[in-house]
Amino acid sequence: DNLAQPFPEGFLWGGATAANQIEGAHDVGGKGLSVQDVTPKGVAGPRTEVPTADNLKLEAIDFYHRYAEDIALFAEMGFKVFRFSIAWSRIFPNGDETEPNEEGLAFYDRVLDELEKYGIEPLVTLSHYETPLHLAREYNGWASRKLIGFYERYARALFERYGKRVRYWLTFNEINSLPHFPFISGGIGAPAEELSAQDRYQAMHHELVASASATRIAHEIDPGLKVGCMILAAPFYPLTPDPRDVWAAKQAERENYAFGDVHCRGRYPGYFLRTLREQGVELEITDEDRQVLRDNTVDFVSLSYYMSLCATVTQDVETSVGNLLGGVNNPTLQASEWGWQIDPLGLRIVLNDFWDRWGKPLFIVENGLGAVDELVPGPDGTPTVEDDYRIAYLNDHLVQVAEAVSDGVDVMGYTSWGCIDLVSASTAQMSKRYGFIYVDRNDDGTGTLERYRKKSFDWYREVIAGNGASL
Ligand code: BG6
Repeated sequence: DNLAQPFPEGFLWGGATAANQIEGAHDVGGKGLSVQDVTPKGVAGPRTEVPTADNLKLEAIDFYHRYAEDIALFAEMGFKVFRFSIAWSRIFPNGDETEPNEEGLAFYDRVLDELEKYGIEPLVTLSHYETPLHLAREYNGWASRKLIGFYERYARALFERYGKRVRYWLTFNEINSLPHFPFISGGIGAPAEELSAQDRYQAMHHELVASASATRIAHEIDPGLKVGCMILAAPFYPLTPDPRDVWAAKQAERENYAFGDVHCRGRYPGYFLRTLREQGVELEITDEDRQVLRDNTVDFVSLSYYMSLCATVTQDVETSVGNLLGGVNNPTLQASEWGWQIDPLGLRIVLNDFWDRWGKPLFIVENGLGAVDELVPGPDGTPTVEDDYRIAYLNDHLVQVAEAVSDGVDVMGYTSWGCIDLVSASTAQMSKRYGFIYVDRNDDGTGTLERYRKKSFDWYREVIAGNGASL
């Protein structure tokens, strides 16, 4: 055991993105519209009938045309892995066609060519908050069982086309966000507060079945493919030692665990069945559903981690502005400029909990700090960003990953979120930046789209080169 250098050889260091937040070219190459094209202000904002000019995602950072330049920069940092998502609506523009769109498939072939040039392993998300809009409007998204079949067809098209080139796959980004943002996460029309319990849990069931079914298809095509789930990980702490707060925290955590429990164990846990009973929900679960869930559990568990939250039975406490899953502020923690509470140790806690619970290899596929960056002239005059705050955030979290590895947790890799600046998901801003690479684009859409290396770029290169020794 080497505590100073715990990261195993072959640890997958890299960065993560999602199609709708980087690609742009929203109507190029036969692409259909997705839920992202009509949500110009992000998760909480209004929905538009048609794409509107104020929607930064329509052009995003133009990765669709600049992928080669961007991947070269990732290679310069020494990336071993690059996580990106495939826009479902590039492959099946409406979602319910029977044949895939060749031009869409060809685009990702070009991306894979570039990654192969540098020996960067792709990690591909099938569905990252970009359900084809037609499926949302015509079927009410994942509330409909029909989506399972459409997703299976999509998954099969991807595994058949790229299975020889892509080993690691994720089925649904942050699957447990479905009850919180039904439209972005599941293409479901009702806002979260109006979503019926019946629709919420039925949609969850459909996604879980689709995920298991995709896992089966992948393994049929090539048993060597590794398919993982993706959980938004946010540990809940009791706000006080009052046992009722401890129980509240446990209950809140179970709302997230339920998804992972099904992905990893292939059946619904008792506490979840109780929730259904108490809410009067009768899920439509076929025998075939049960079997596919049971026989096709995931190969690994991936997670995003940004914050921890507190739970309490007390009513008059401050709710964290930035938190995505409900919960209250932790008085011992600082928050980011967007109110996300910063808790590096929480990452070690989550990694240990997930490992103890599921015993599956873990992959941290999102973590990072969204912050306002200021472009300044570097030593040679080239613009840069002195983002010591981001370096500190990432360093503190990676130290906790190292601790977890030393605790015996099997961690496959780490891809920091938004390795290149991109459009944020919750607020659709450019100014909420996560990258090692600055992209010259502003919230009003102006900017040259030039790329600049930030100070964190060199820092991360050193971390990767030393397999974590410089942390
Ligand atoms: C995760 C999503 O919720 O958090 C990403 O998977 C998202 O798509 C990331 O970008 C950070 O959130 P935000 O709102 O700061 O972009």
